[in-house]
Amino acid sequence: MDDRPIGMFDSGFGGLTVARAVIDLLPAERLVYVGDTGRYPYGPRPQLEVWGFALEIARHLVDDHGVKLLVVACNTAAAAAPLGDLEQRFAVPVVGVIEPGVRSMVTATRSGRVGVIGTVGTIASGAYQRTVARVAPDVELTCAACPGFVEFVERGDTASDQVHVLAERLLAPAREAKVDTLLLGCTHYPFLARTI
Ligand code: DGL
Repeated sequence: MDDRPIGMFDSGFGGLTVARAVIDLLPAERLVYVGDTGRYPYGPRPQLEVWGFALEIARHLVDDHGVKLLVVACNTAAAAAPLGDLEQRFAVPVVGVIEPGVRSMVTATRSGRVGVIGTVGTIASGAYQRTVARVAPDVELTCAACPGFVEFVERGDTASDQVHVLAERLLAPAREAKVDTLLLGCTHYPFLARTI
């Protein structure tokens, strides 16, 4: 039994959706969660800058909290910071959100037409496109960046007319592509699930 905590991080509230799932699955584990609300949103920032933030927070979790495992509960950070690199530097296992999401998505689809929505940084990184091409090359993938969603969530606005109007516009490509499965490729988006 290793009673050191599990470390998790995100740019803000988003990763709490992942923390919730971990708490449900592993109620006996202790968690240390960092939400980098001083520097969110990560989505519009250059990848190298986000990678730097990920290294800094991972260092804090490992050195100051002695975590036994790191969960990168942020798609933008997981797309910017190679998980193998984090594992090597910090000598703890590192779990991301991209590959597990892709595996669930390709298991769920019936039509083979799937969509991923995420921040500008995540979608522009090509991380989902590469993972889908590797894991399920036969599925037809439509990706859409959703700038603005994270800011609504951080403001606590998940159902106003304004967020609905934005969602109508940003989700149009996924609707036009007739996807039967849409992956919320940003950990903030489950807060908008009803609107989406
Ligand atoms: N929740 C994060 C993600 O999964 C990042 C949101 C942001 O700060 O832009 O990508």
